[in-house]
Amino acid sequence: MSTKKQLNVGIVGYGFMGRTHANAFRKVSNFFDLPYQPVLKAACGRDEAKLAAYADKWGWESTETDWKKLIERSDIDIIDICTPNDSHAEISIAAARAGKMVMCEKPLSLDGPQGEEMVREIEKAGVANMVWYNYRRVPAVTLAKQIIDSGKLGRVFHYRAKFLQDWTINADIPQGGAGLWRLDAAAAGSGVTGDLLAHCIDTALWLNGSIDTVTAMTETFVKERMHQLTGQMQKVEIDDACAFLSRFSNGSLGTFESTRYARGHKAQNTFEINGENASIAWDLHDLGRLQYFDYREESQTRGWKSIHVTDTDHPYMGNWWVPGLQIGYEHTFVHQVADFIKGIAEGTPAAPTFRDALETQYVCDSVLSSARSGQWTPVKKLG
Ligand SMILES: NC(=O)c1ccc[n+]([C@@H]2O[C@H](COP(=O)([O-])OP(=O)(O)OC[C@H]3O[C@@H](n4cnc5c(N)ncnc54)[C@H](O)[C@@H]3O)[C@@H](O)[C@H]2O)c1
Repeated sequence: MSTKKQLNVGIVGYGFMGRTHANAFRKVSNFFDLPYQPVLKAACGRDEAKLAAYADKWGWESTETDWKKLIERSDIDIIDICTPNDSHAEISIAAARAGKMVMCEKPLSLDGPQGEEMVREIEKAGVANMVWYNYRRVPAVTLAKQIIDSGKLGRVFHYRAKFLQDWTINADIPQGGAGLWRLDAAAAGSGVTGDLLAHCIDTALWLNGSIDTVTAMTETFVKERMHQLTGQMQKVEIDDACAFLSRFSNGSLGTFESTRYARGHKAQNTFEINGENASIAWDLHDLGRLQYFDYREESQTRGWKSIHVTDTDHPYMGNWWVPGLQIGYEHTFVHQVADFIKGIAEGTPAAPTFRDALETQYVCDSVLSSARSGQWTPVKKLG
């Protein structure tokens, strides 16, 4: 048993993210020297049998079938929200009012105004908070941030990002309910914009600064789907695909694209940044590598280099195995927990906080509004 001060975690939701987070809380102290030890205290979900199986598999000490009961418990320090988007606001506001720290899955909220209320409540409560935009903590992406901040790229001209999938092409796939809430606008808020582009936007704001204005188009290719909960054919209200152009505050131009209709692509999340001296590029499918081109190198040997981000002086990598050995997707969540705990100890909140994540929500709102109006649309700035 660890002698460190314990941080008791209560998780809500035992699906995909419920597994990645449980894994991260379990592993983090094996690889990072932290002042606090996260303890998997309680897991919450509505289906008692499935919840018991999840708790047993991942080592949660106890279970609750009502998140309100979880929040009332005096032995819980952190509420970790892994439920669909429509419940993030209610659970995080209740948790903050009860004085719990809150870790919330992305996107922060269904839209900007709801996000504003969440930020107001969480800041009023003064509790530590964070949103799980985990791609910031892929070591190659963190390295890109360090290279950009060192000024190596010079003036930035272009930011290009895409997130492509192909799992909703079949018109017989229902919408709503377990596993398919992403197709139901009431649960998801939006389609690929809030689900996939939100990741690209968070990374872009972090790497390249704020976005001033956008122009967008969206499409819903399958107009009606059976709703899993009602059994009725219902209009599909989400965006199946979205592409938008943007102007960043630093003068660079952005192009973003996301779809669930790109046959052959499962999760192709990429960005490329072109500056006056150098370009940098990353692809989730080869997440341990960062592509870098520097025009200032000697001309005969100049070319794109593929940096294998596994050395001990690369971000986070000194905590893992030995140079040359790559890590993967699940480790980004471990890094996020490590940074959150360090932030609590040092009194410097780990980003992205709820407030940081609200900026992404503002961009999503403007993208969807522009797609409706056909007009260039300004992006609301953080207050
Ligand atoms: N950071 C990432 O890369 C990433 C990846 C996937 C999903 N997400 C986000 O994580 C969240 C969950 O997504 P997922 O893929 O894990 O979904 P999922 O469908 O796999 O799991 C959702 C879980 O929430 C539970 N749930 C729903 N309503 C509940 C309620 N009222 N009380 C208790 N439990 C409830 C469900 O039973 C299920 O266990 C979403 O907000 C999603 O956008 C983030």
